Amino acid sequence: MNESVKNICCIGAGYVGGPTMAVFADKCPHLNFNVVDINEQRVNAWNNNNLDKLPVYEKGLKDIIMRCRGRNLHFSTDVENNIAIADMIFISVNTPIKKYGVGAGHASDLKWVESSARQILKYAKGYTIVVEKSTLPVKTAEMIKIILNDGKSKDKEFAVLSNPEFLAEGTAINDLENPDRVLIGGEDDYAINLLVDIYTNWIEPNRILKTNLWSSELSKLTANAFLAQRISSINSISALCEKTGAKISEVALAIGTDSRIGNKFLSAGPGFGGSCFKKDILNLVYISRFYGLEEVARFWENVVGINNWQQTRISELIVRKLFGTISDKNIAVLGYAFKANTNDTRESPAIRICQDLINEGASLNIYDPKVNSDQIYNSLKENQKDFCLENKNINVNKNIEEACINVDAIILLTEWEEFRKINWKKIALLTRKPTWLFDTRNFSNYKDAKKYGIKVWALGTGEIL
Ligand code: NAD
Ligand code: UGA
Repeated sequence: MNESVKNICCIGAGYVGGPTMAVFADKCPHLNFNVVDINEQRVNAWNNNNLDKLPVYEKGLKDIIMRCRGRNLHFSTDVENNIAIADMIFISVNTPIKKYGVGAGHASDLKWVESSARQILKYAKGYTIVVEKSTLPVKTAEMIKIILNDGKSKDKEFAVLSNPEFLAEGTAINDLENPDRVLIGGEDDYAINLLVDIYTNWIEPNRILKTNLWSSELSKLTANAFLAQRISSINSISALCEKTGAKISEVALAIGTDSRIGNKFLSAGPGFGGSCFKKDILNLVYISRFYGLEEVARFWENVVGINNWQQTRISELIVRKLFGTISDKNIAVLGYAFKANTNDTRESPAIRICQDLINEGASLNIYDPKVNSDQIYNSLKENQKDFCLENKNINVNKNIEEACINVDAIILLTEWEEFRKINWKKIALLTRKPTWLFDTRNFSNYKDAKKYGIKVWALGTGEIL
C-alpha cells in the first residue's frame, strides 16, 4: 500500500474529466494530475496555446488552465505511462445509451468503462485506487472489480470507489469549487480516506457523504431523474396554462415559494437536453425492468415521454401559427446549445425542433454565441433516419441581426443573456411581415417585440394579445 497519493490519472478528457481535474489541480498544487484520452484531437485542443480553443467552454476554466497546465496539470494521449505511475485513477469516460443489441435504446453502453478497466489492469503498478467518476448503472463497480481482481498479482492491488460527479454544464467551475455535497461510495476505508484527503483541500468534511458502492451509484441516477422529473412536471403544466389563461411564471412562483417544493428547476422550456438526463433516466428504466419492476420503469419512462412531446408540440405549434405551412418560409433560430453558458449541443431540444422545421420545408438561420457551424450541421445529421438535410436550407449566422434578415419568424430556444434584451425596434425593421416571435423559454422582453408589431407566442402563456 502507498503512504499517500501523489500522481493522479484521469481517463477521459471530456466535459467532466477536463474541468474536474483542472479544479483538482488548482486546489491541490502539491499533487500531479495527468488527464489522458484516446482522442488526440481533443487532447491537442486542451493543450492549445489559444485558450479560446479549449474543447470545453466554462466560465473561469481558462484562468485555471492558465495557472495549472504544465505545472501540475497535463493532458496527454499516453494512457500507458500515466496509468503506470498513478496512485489513483478516475474513470471519466463516456457512458452513452446502447444503440444496438441487448438493451438498445435504454441500457448504458459500458464498453468504454470496460476498456478503461482493462487498460488499468494491464498498466497499473502497485496499489491503485480506481474511482468511478462516470455515471454508471448500479452494480457497475462489480464488473470493474471482477476485471481487476481476476488479473490481480503480487505487484498489482486495487480498491474500487464510486465518486459520481454532480456538476452542471455552464456552472461547472463553481459547482466543482463549491459542491452541495461530495459523494463517495465504497467499502475500503483506507482508500476512501485517501480520496477524502484530496477533497478536504477545499471542501469542508461535513459536506462529504460516505455510502456503500451501490447507494452511491444509484444516487447519481436518482438525482438526475428527480431533476428531470421536475422539468417534465412544469412543462406539462405549461401546456395547461396555455389552454386555461394561467401563466406558467406565476404558477412556478406560487408553488416554488412553498419551502417543501423549492424554487429551483421550475423554468418551463422546450424540454431538457444535455448528454445525461435522458440517458440516465432510460438507464433507470432499464434497470427497473431488469429487476421486474415494471410500474417503476413506466413511471420514469413518462418523464422522457413528456420531454419528447414538449419538443414536438412546439414545432407543430409554429407550423400552425404560420398559417399551416412553413414551406419556403425563413425562420431565425436563436440559441442552439442545450442551455445557456455552454457550447454543448448533445440532446439539445434545438436539434429535434430544427429537424422538424426543415422537414416541413423551412429555411433556417441559426445563431448561437458559442456553437460553431460544424457542430450544428453534424448534430442535425445525427440519429435521423427520415430526415433529409440539405445544407442550402440552413445558414449559420454570426449575430442576432444577421439571423433575422427577411425571416417570417424568430424562435428563442436557449436562454442566453444576449437574447434577454434584444433591440426589437431594430429587429422589426429587418424581418418580413407578419413576423412571429416564439419564446420557448418565456424569458425575453417580448412585450417590447409586441410594441414594434411582432406577433408573440410565449411558452406557458400562449399568444400575447
Ligand atoms: P465526454 O464524451 O465529453 O468525454 C469522455 C471522453 O472519454 C472522450 O473524450 C473519450 O475519447 C474518452 N475515452 C473513452 N474511452 C477511453 C479510453 N478507454 N481511454 C481514454 N479515453 C477514453 O463525456 P462527459 O460529458 O465528460 O461525461 C463523462 C461521464 O460523466 C459520463 O458517464 C457522464 O454521464 C458523466 N457526467 C457528465 C456530466 C456532464 O455535465 N457532461 C456531468 C456529470 C456526470
Ligand atoms: C445536469 C444536472 O443538473 C447535474 O447535476 C448533473 O451532474 C449533470 O446533469 C449530469 O449528470 O450530466 P446539465 O445537464 O449540465 O446538468 O444541466 P442542467 O442545468 O441540469 O440542465 C439540463 C436541461 O434542463 C437543460 O436543457 C436546461 O435548459 C433544462 N432545464 C433546467 C429546464 O428546462 N428548466 C429548468 O428549470 C432547469
